[in-house]
Amino acid sequence: MPQDTTALFQPIKLGKLTLPNRFIMAPLTRARAINHLPNDLMAEYYAQRASAGLIITECTMVTPQTSSFGNDPGIYSPEQIEGWKKTTQAVHQAGGQIFLQIWHAGRAAHPLLNNGKEAIAPSAIAIDGETTTPEGKKAYTLPHAVTQEAILAIIQDFRQAAANAIEAGFDGVEVHGANGYLIDQFLRESANQRVDNYGGSLENRTRFLTAVLTAVTNEIGSERVGLRLSPLNSFNSMKDNDPEGWVSYLAKQLNTFNLAYLHLMRGDFFGIQKADVIPIAREHYQGHLMVNMGYDAAEAAEILRNNGADSVAFGQAFIANPDLPARIQAGAALNTPDQKTFYTPGSEGYTDYPLMKA
Ligand SMILES: Cc1cc2nc3c(=O)[nH]c(=O)nc-3n(C[C@H](O)[C@H](O)[C@H](O)COP(=O)(O)O)c2cc1C
Repeated sequence: MPQDTTALFQPIKLGKLTLPNRFIMAPLTRARAINHLPNDLMAEYYAQRASAGLIITECTMVTPQTSSFGNDPGIYSPEQIEGWKKTTQAVHQAGGQIFLQIWHAGRAAHPLLNNGKEAIAPSAIAIDGETTTPEGKKAYTLPHAVTQEAILAIIQDFRQAAANAIEAGFDGVEVHGANGYLIDQFLRESANQRVDNYGGSLENRTRFLTAVLTAVTNEIGSERVGLRLSPLNSFNSMKDNDPEGWVSYLAKQLNTFNLAYLHLMRGDFFGIQKADVIPIAREHYQGHLMVNMGYDAAEAAEILRNNGADSVAFGQAFIANPDLPARIQAGAALNTPDQKTFYTPGSEGYTDYPLMKA
C-alpha cells in the first residue's frame, strides 16, 4: 500500500513565512566554502534544494578564527555577506526560503585551523578524541575558560551575524544551540563547570543562550529567529544528567521569546543517551516545533498527523535528493548519500545527485 504522506504537503506558518510544505532541509556542513567564503557552487547546491518548505544552511561562523571544519563559511565580513547573496538570490529565484544557521564552535575550534588561536569554552575542559586539522588527525586542545567580558563580546557577534544575515538576504537565522558547540557547552553539565552566574543551576547555564536570543531577536525580530537544540547528543563529549528536566525547563523559558520555531533533535549520534524528549517539548513549548533525526517520510507524516510536531527536518535525505518532496509525492526511490564526499571540496557528491527520472 502506498504510504500516506499528505500531512507533509500541508502548508504551515513559521514566523511570518508560510511554508508550502513541512519538509525542512536540516543544517548540513559540507565544507565547500574555500577560505570561509560562500561561493557560486554553494548557491547552486542550495538552489537545487529550493523545493524544501524551508532550507536551513550549514553552520556559519559569527566571528573569525572559530573554524571547526576548515572550509566552513562565515558571516562576519563584507565579502561573506556578498558571497551569501548569491545563495539567497538563487534560492529565492527558485521559489525557496532560507535561514542561516549562526554558530560559534567554542572548544571544537582547533588552533591549527585558526592561526594558532586557542579555543574558548565555558570551562577549561577538552573534547575527548581527535579532529581533522591541516596537519592530520590531532587531539582536541584544552580551551581556556571564557571571561565574562568575552562572553558579552560573543553575544554581540551573534547579534551582528543576524544583522549581516538579513543584509545578505536570508529570511531569518537559526541560532545553533546544538551538537556540543559553544551555546550547548554552556547548557550542558559535562562542559560547564563554571561557578559564576553562567554555571551551576539550569537557570545559570541557560543565561548565555537567553542573552544571545535577546540580542538576536531585538536586532532582527523574533519572527525571523529559530533555535536548534540537541538535548541527548553526546557528540563533542556532551552529557547532561537530566535531559528530560532540561527540555521541559528550556521549552517553558523559550515561550517568552516568541521565536519562529524550536528545532529539536530527538536522539544521539552515538545512541548512548536515550529519552523521549519530543513529547516533553510539545507539552511545554507553545510555538512551531520542528523535529529531526532519523525520520523517513512515513514516520514524519505520522508525527504531523498526530500533532506531535509542526514540521520535520531531513538531513541525509536532502544531501542525496535535491528533489526530496517531489520524490516522496511520487513514491519514487531515493538516492543514497555518499559519506565519502560529505566534506570534500568540489561538486562531486554535492551538486551532482540526479533528479528523479521524469
Ligand atoms: C554531513 C553532515 C553535516 C551536518 N552538519 C550540521 C550542521 O552544520 N549543523 C547542525 O546543526 N547539524 C548538522 N548535522 C546534523 C543534521 O542536521 C541532522 O541533525 C542529522 O543528519 C540527522 O538527521 P537525518 O537523520 O535526517 O539525517 C550534520 C549532519 C551531517 C550528516
